[in-house]
Amino acid sequence: MNAPTYDPNPPTELTVDQINLADPGFWLRDDYHAALTLLREHKPISWHQHPDSGKGFWSFVDYDDIIEVTRDYEHFSSKYGIRVHHDHGTGQVRPGTGIMIEMDPPEQTRNRRHVSRGFTPRQIKKMEGYVRDQARSIVGEFTAGQEIDFVEQIAARLPMEIICDIMGVDKEDRQYLLDLSNQTLGDQDPDYGGTPEEGTKAVFALREYGVALAAKRLKDPKDDLISEIARIEEDGHHLPPEQIGAFFALLIAAGNETTRTAITHGMWAFTTHPEQKQKFLEDPVGLEMSAAEEIIRWATPLRHMGRVLEHDIEYKGHHMRKGEKIAIWYAASNRDPRVFADPFTFDITRDPNVHQSFGGGGAHFCLGANLARREVWVLFQELFARFPDAVALEPPVRLRSVQVNGIKSLKVRL
Ligand code: HEM
Repeated sequence: MNAPTYDPNPPTELTVDQINLADPGFWLRDDYHAALTLLREHKPISWHQHPDSGKGFWSFVDYDDIIEVTRDYEHFSSKYGIRVHHDHGTGQVRPGTGIMIEMDPPEQTRNRRHVSRGFTPRQIKKMEGYVRDQARSIVGEFTAGQEIDFVEQIAARLPMEIICDIMGVDKEDRQYLLDLSNQTLGDQDPDYGGTPEEGTKAVFALREYGVALAAKRLKDPKDDLISEIARIEEDGHHLPPEQIGAFFALLIAAGNETTRTAITHGMWAFTTHPEQKQKFLEDPVGLEMSAAEEIIRWATPLRHMGRVLEHDIEYKGHHMRKGEKIAIWYAASNRDPRVFADPFTFDITRDPNVHQSFGGGGAHFCLGANLARREVWVLFQELFARFPDAVALEPPVRLRSVQVNGIKSLKVRL
């Protein structure tokens, strides 16, 4: 079969002033990369407003500015929320969430310490055999030539199984948690609830599940992360239930959708770039790290992260006021030609590849980066070892979202 034709960067007819990054519909356009390039060249910092995004927000699309914003948490705070399509009012976006990704140092640093030891490179390397067994068992359910929905039947399952095993979630509850995690991140897509209220409900349901599981493990500990979190004591007290629930919800949601998105974009990229797939087939181990890194850059599973101004600031001639929302667009910075040679070329040997898919550095840099990279390369090694001819048959069906570069389905023939 010929590879489906695909132009990763078709030209745009939009003018700079017509570009509205706050509109979820914008992200369903094929020309959005060309529009981001226009913005980077003409208006690297700009204001965007849309009915779906309430009070509007400032957009940063320049690679270096994103590093600056990410590091300067004293001005650009995470504690009022990280999703620019929610409004912040006076308190937090989701009242009482208390989730570390929505905190600033030193509070965030203290919280991160509780869970970070589960995610060190050493810890993750120890999981290699286990991640591989899971991947092998998932692809082993299928036969050559079978047509499947790659998202639901393969890509969504590996990250879910792994994070649920790390946390200690019972097998029979995993689909329920997967549905909830879809709802938290798909809150602008009618197929997953489509409203911030539904998203919030799903976050609280995830938290409740985590609190109940921690209480169970406190009485009857097992070798899992929720048992460890339940046992933590600060000043002679266990962590409060809301904090345990927050850890649980964050790890389940963060570990799921993003990695699934990377894997699915990877499948589409390998289909539309058969020469890259051939390279990978010839040296799946030698290219594992660079291929995973390029897939994650190419996919940019989270298009942006949000921050809120804690103080007024004059930034590069723009007067920004306390309380205003900021979006930092990795979707743009990961295609910056000053940083990436031929940014619209999918090249699994790319080196260096200092993309910003896991964040622009700083305190919140993705805790699961090493796990995600490993899941991506192991999945493709196992998939292509069994099904070297696996290809996508048609373009992906994309999620409606300003934040998640999600794919809802991808038809693949194995
Ligand atoms: C390709 C997959 C992934 C991508 C693209 C991704 C992306 C990100 C980004 C952009 C951030 C925020 C950075 C910032 O605000 O500066 C983040 C934070 C985080 N990620 Fe990931 N992530 C991925 C996979 C994972 C996995 C598998 C886990 C598993 C546990 C995870 C757990 C977290 C956590 C806990 C945080 C919050 C860290 C903190 O606030 O200190 N992520 N991730």
